[in-house]
Amino acid sequence: MRSLAPLTLVALAALTGCAKGYTYNADVQPLLAAHCESCHESGGIAFPLQTYAQAFANRAAIATDVQSLRMPPWLPDDTCNSYKADPSLSAQEIAVLAAWAAYPSEGDPKILPVKITQPTSLGRVDLSLPMAQAYAPRAEPDDYECFLLDWPETATTYVTGFSIVPGNPRLVHNASAYIASPGQLSSYTRQLEQLPDGGTLPRYPCFGGPTSGLDALVNWLGLWVPGIASGELPQGTGIQVQPGSKVVLQINYTPGNDPGATDLSTVQLELSSTVAKQGALLPFANPSWVLGGNTGVSDAGSSLFIPAGQASYNVQFQLDPTPYLGLLTNNIIPAGTPITVYSAVGRMLLHGTQEQLSVIHPDQSETCLLNLKQWDFGWQGNYFFRAPIQVVPGDQLAISCTYDNSAANQPMVDGGLLTPAVLSWGESVTDELCLGLCYVTL
Ligand code: HEC
Repeated sequence: MRSLAPLTLVALAALTGCAKGYTYNADVQPLLAAHCESCHESGGIAFPLQTYAQAFANRAAIATDVQSLRMPPWLPDDTCNSYKADPSLSAQEIAVLAAWAAYPSEGDPKILPVKITQPTSLGRVDLSLPMAQAYAPRAEPDDYECFLLDWPETATTYVTGFSIVPGNPRLVHNASAYIASPGQLSSYTRQLEQLPDGGTLPRYPCFGGPTSGLDALVNWLGLWVPGIASGELPQGTGIQVQPGSKVVLQINYTPGNDPGATDLSTVQLELSSTVAKQGALLPFANPSWVLGGNTGVSDAGSSLFIPAGQASYNVQFQLDPTPYLGLLTNNIIPAGTPITVYSAVGRMLLHGTQEQLSVIHPDQSETCLLNLKQWDFGWQGNYFFRAPIQVVPGDQLAISCTYDNSAANQPMVDGGLLTPAVLSWGESVTDELCLGLCYVTL
């Protein structure tokens, strides 16, 4: 009799689970369709979670990953600010998934699955820029490749929306795009000329940024991760592109997901010939970190210097950006004016653990823009605020970056962990960045 007791308990508990009414068909499938399927679909970047059998087989990991907030991937701390298109599950939804995972049941087969059209595409596509030809990512753990795409417009045009349609969604983990204006083109084509094939194909390997050297002052167009609604810029605003420019598409591939396969992705854009307010992605960092470059020596804050072996090393900087707006935005916004800030991006490389951007007002009160509490290089995004924030002369922008440069947190290169070394500003796996970007207008 006694040996039956545990079984009876499990049966009872299962009954209670059912009594609560959490079934796959009624409760779980709609949540997975809304919050997970954009990536977890057959042929997508992650294994499919589209049937009862698939959810059942992964139920323990689903419960763990939604409770730890690892899934869906969303790096911003929602207590810092609130963002558009936040895919996070509510506490109640997490509880439903966890309860179902403990006592899984399929439920009423008559309930039809919910189909959600993912909000990844733009409302209107005026221009599609495909890669010139299909690309087979290198078989390393990850491959970062930049593609130069021709810009066909013959008059000055404003990009008002940006998205990427991955050619092979299993391979495209995330992507960024930049504008190479006519005056900057040579620093991009130089990357091609240095390749062994002399740059016959308009693409080159690029890890941290699209050019070496210009990194903080490149013209960003947008960032894209699968499943996160992307790209419509705030109403009435847009990013200017001059005729004769090129678009640089930087893709982070995960070749292990589909070995040997190729990708031909397309940048999709919504365009306008005029906008009420011209926008720019304002870069923010300590100029000495950038200009100090890769010196590898600690010289009292005049370069970025992250000592080898330290598990938690923090750098900070703050400055009123308004006197430098002309320089930082290619004269799109004149110096000395108030600005409206719509979004924030944090940018570090592989050793980063936490990055925060905020505004410090003259009375020392603080407005938090973005806090990436668990930095993950593979999941960076441009996070648009629910309510734009004004920055006026006298306010300071503040940036704080924390790194783990201990032996346990080194990147894999050629199948082995690197040994810790001093990290300074640069764009390779053995460098680091501490950069913030904000989409701003006058
Ligand atoms: C933006 C894309 C995306 C979304 C949305 C997403 N995932 Fe994932 N998920 C991934 C990727 C990619 C992986 C593979 C590991 C990695 O890159 O972190 C993964 C891994 C997982 C794993 C890990 C499996 C293991 O081996 O441990 C689970 C479980 C999971 N996801 C569940 C979910 C659930 C549940 C949701 C929705 C609540 C969700 N994911 C939403 C992209 C996503």
